[in-house]
Amino acid sequence: MNPIVDYLRISLIDRCNFRCQYCMPEGEELTYLQRQEVLSNDELLTLLRDVLIPCGFTRFRLTGGEPLLRPGVVNLVKQIAALPQTQDLSMTTNGFLLADMAQDLYKAGLRRINISLDSLDPATFDRIVGHRGRSQWQRVWDGIQAAYQVGFNPLKLNVVVIPGVNDQEVLDLAALSLDRHWHVRFIEFMPIGNADLFNHKGWIDSETLRQQIRDRWGLTEGQVQGNGPADVFQIPGAKGTLGFISQMSECFCDRCNRMRLSADGWLRPCLLNEIGQLDLKTALRSGVPLAELRSQVQSLLELKPAINYKQRESGTIGQAYSRTMSQIGG
Ligand code: GTP
Ligand code: 5AD
Ligand code: SF4
Repeated sequence: MNPIVDYLRISLIDRCNFRCQYCMPEGEELTYLQRQEVLSNDELLTLLRDVLIPCGFTRFRLTGGEPLLRPGVVNLVKQIAALPQTQDLSMTTNGFLLADMAQDLYKAGLRRINISLDSLDPATFDRIVGHRGRSQWQRVWDGIQAAYQVGFNPLKLNVVVIPGVNDQEVLDLAALSLDRHWHVRFIEFMPIGNADLFNHKGWIDSETLRQQIRDRWGLTEGQVQGNGPADVFQIPGAKGTLGFISQMSECFCDRCNRMRLSADGWLRPCLLNEIGQLDLKTALRSGVPLAELRSQVQSLLELKPAINYKQRESGTIGQAYSRTMSQIGG
């Protein structure tokens, strides 16, 4: 059976204040969107209310770049949370601004948050996030603690595992799930954003990590909370869980339930291929009737199983993608 496609990842901004090696490496200057190219709050809300929600999207994740850099983000969260059809509203962030913003975001109606934390060692963290994030490990850690205290639940930590960079920390990172209701997710490094690093370092498959964890503590199946592709496990007796996002070793395209809306208003049915993508911003700005946009989105939804199938047939992520996650839409 084809999965219901009701999960929309909304990129609020293509910029980021970090330069994670695996995502937007330093030295390669990216071309950023100009302010007027980005969907305004009003445009985004119109698209949600009059086009995307009527087509069945009810679960929203705010991404970037770094979504907390978007001016007025708390107010936007409030407006999306207040839409009666919003069933789930979450965010993926690097945590840098979270210590100051966690409380306001929670009050505005955000309930779930996923935070990147690739290392527990400040020196390794510095190496991963690039010069702008240098010496900011503690600040990110404080942001995670603040989000936990404010009540974000589930609170998830995202770790992109890069051989020879942070793979020796897998057990330490997994141990964060023991005493707290934290959900640590290990993500296989994909050739998106930094193909050179990928070609140089390679990637480690989730099963190898699970075996390390099994050998140390044992591992059972865990309860899934969320909309994403993670396979969830748990260390026996732990408060939190361990998730594995295995896009390299196991193609999960056939269970893909999501589309992406980029900061400049492209609706993309797939992270990896560009078939069928719709330029909703240009259509909206040129006065295409909303009913016509609904019908275009509906047609794209009908095409989605074939896109998932095609992507699955072309294998896991074999080729390198020059666009970064921040440009594709999180
Ligand atoms: P929840 O399960 O609802 O908490 O969210 P999520 O796991 O979908 O959100 P998050 O932004 O934390 O995603 C974690 C990582 O999963 C991303 O950064 C990607 O590495 C990977 N991912 C998410 N969606 C896709 C997808 O459609 N295709 C691929 N290949 N990877 C994805
Ligand atoms: N491989 C895997 N995940 C990536 N992300 C960005 N680039 C990559 C990549 N090349 C994901 C990470 C990060 C989020 C913002 O984007 O999960 O936490
Ligand atoms: Fe920024 Fe996130 Fe990409 Fe790191 S992974 S550069 S924090 S968008």
